[in-house]
Amino acid sequence: MLELKSLKKSYLQGSSKINIFENLNFHIQKGQRIAIMGKSGSGKSTLLSLISGIIKPDSGEILLDSTSYNDLEESQLNDFRATNIGFVFQNFHLVSYLNALENVMLPAKVCNVANPKEKAIELLKSVGLSHRLDHLPSQLSGGEKQRVAIARALIHNPKIILADEPSGNLDEETGIAVMDTLFELIKKNNTTLVLVTHSKEVALRCEKTYELVSGNLV
Ligand SMILES: Nc1ncnc2c1ncn2[C@@H]1O[C@H](COP(=O)(O)OP(=O)(O)O)[C@@H](O)[C@H]1O
Ligand SMILES: [Mg+2]
Repeated sequence: MLELKSLKKSYLQGSSKINIFENLNFHIQKGQRIAIMGKSGSGKSTLLSLISGIIKPDSGEILLDSTSYNDLEESQLNDFRATNIGFVFQNFHLVSYLNALENVMLPAKVCNVANPKEKAIELLKSVGLSHRLDHLPSQLSGGEKQRVAIARALIHNPKIILADEPSGNLDEETGIAVMDTLFELIKKNNTTLVLVTHSKEVALRCEKTYELVSGNLV
């Protein structure tokens, strides 16, 4: 369902060029859950940004469910991303002036999900936060914020979830509980997952673990 073909990506840093991927080929089946590990700076976040279409490769092709990003205009790609992809970030990225319920409802508005409020309440309940609907992010603990972020990533039933070190900023016990929630929900919905993590225990929950080494997934 996700295919990366001959991807090349480099960054310009001043006058020098850093090659992150020279010829990356990779594919994931629907419903598969994969973990990506690798040293800091190896290109894990770059890879997720490419898969999400937020940044463009120098050359090569990315296809999600047979749709090639190369065939989409900028605005079509933005819509495609909003409809098909859910994100969970290390730093949660919640909107500070919206409460938990409003944060979860955000993608539903963009994607015209039916009954967004009911759906958001149901998801917040399933992540154990039905008593925190009116709380602003600043009034939530780290684990609670990440649970809100997980609910938000799932409200529009995305085909794929991209998670960048989602338990990286949580203490171990909270991180385990948050990962339990994430895996329970994505298994229930048969959502594909690409999870970047530094934790072997978290990676073990996925069907396959890859390491990003010299621009290749091994
Ligand atoms: N926008 C950018 N411009 C220049 N260099 C970048 C940019 N984004 C990332 N890099 C560099 O690319 C490399 C890979 O970064 P990143 O994908 O964030 O790695 P990881 O997530 O594995 O730590 C790093 O050396 C980083 O400094
Ligand atoms: Mg990173």
